Amino acid sequence: MKGIILAGGSATRLYPLSKAISKQIMPVYDKPMIYYPLSTLMLAGIREVLVISTPRDLPMFRELLGDGSRIGMQIEYKIQEVPNGLAQAFVLGREFLNGEPGCLILGDNMFYGQGFSKMLREAVADVEGGHAGACIFGYEVSDPRAYGVVEFDSEGHVLSLEEKPSQPKSRYAVPGLYFYNKSVCEKAAILEPSARGEYEITDLNKMYLTEGTLKVKLFGRGFAWLDTGNCDSLLEAGNFIATIQNRQGFYVSCIEEIAWRNGWISTETLAALGKEMKTAYGRYLEGLAEHAK
Ligand code: DAU
Repeated sequence: MKGIILAGGSATRLYPLSKAISKQIMPVYDKPMIYYPLSTLMLAGIREVLVISTPRDLPMFRELLGDGSRIGMQIEYKIQEVPNGLAQAFVLGREFLNGEPGCLILGDNMFYGQGFSKMLREAVADVEGGHAGACIFGYEVSDPRAYGVVEFDSEGHVLSLEEKPSQPKSRYAVPGLYFYNKSVCEKAAILEPSARGEYEITDLNKMYLTEGTLKVKLFGRGFAWLDTGNCDSLLEAGNFIATIQNRQGFYVSCIEEIAWRNGWISTETLAALGKEMKTAYGRYLEGLAEHAK
């Protein structure tokens, strides 16, 4: 399984913040936003990642993450000239996936909660093992109108998927995290643009639903799926991360720590990466390495 992070778009809802820089590079407390979706892919065990962004912003992601080798990964980059839909990720990412299954995560989606890694690895296993063609998630929100919405019958079977319905059939929003089997690029290639002119991820998911191979897993109420769409939600997300980190002393979405726990980098490398940063973040990495001795 390979991963794609879609980190383009113009983020006009964050103007003037996002007028000159990418939303997904902005700080969420102590780290750039893209660290959060990247860490989700890493927790799923995904080591090869494609970052897709705008011609303006891509160089900045390249500067931030490089080729990924410092954290034992392979990171590649691709430009999306025009933000005309999430499903485009699988047209632009076709060469990168090269016939393999793929996981797409939106660059502004943040997840946090116990049992998350297990859920991710189950989704990978379901898709790689052929038990599902696609695996997506459902999360109950008070107002789902801004999201993809999934409707279930009384036995939990998926009845429908709708993008931003004005009258949602359920309170289950679909977060921006999607696992697909190797047929995803073929499916994405034949999608038609929606009424609003976008290649919709919901239409791609509907193809799997029609085929009878779509699996939807639900996140429980103790789980956090955070939004960073406007200034308030961006601030709230930062405060949430600060609260958890300061209370527990464990960092959330620390990519170097995850790489180390995954066995992708050595304790010596972890310590060296920590030493480069004269911040609490750097000292945290050094502390992890120290304790491991
Ligand atoms: O966040 C989950 C929701 O994401 C899902 O529930 C919806 O089904 C899905 O359509 C999407 O809705 P959004 O309204 O959040 O999509 P938005 O257009 O805001 O794009 C999400 C992120 O992806 C945003 O950070 C910009 C980036 N993007 C978007 C498009 C359309 C791109 O990089 N390229 C694009 O072409």
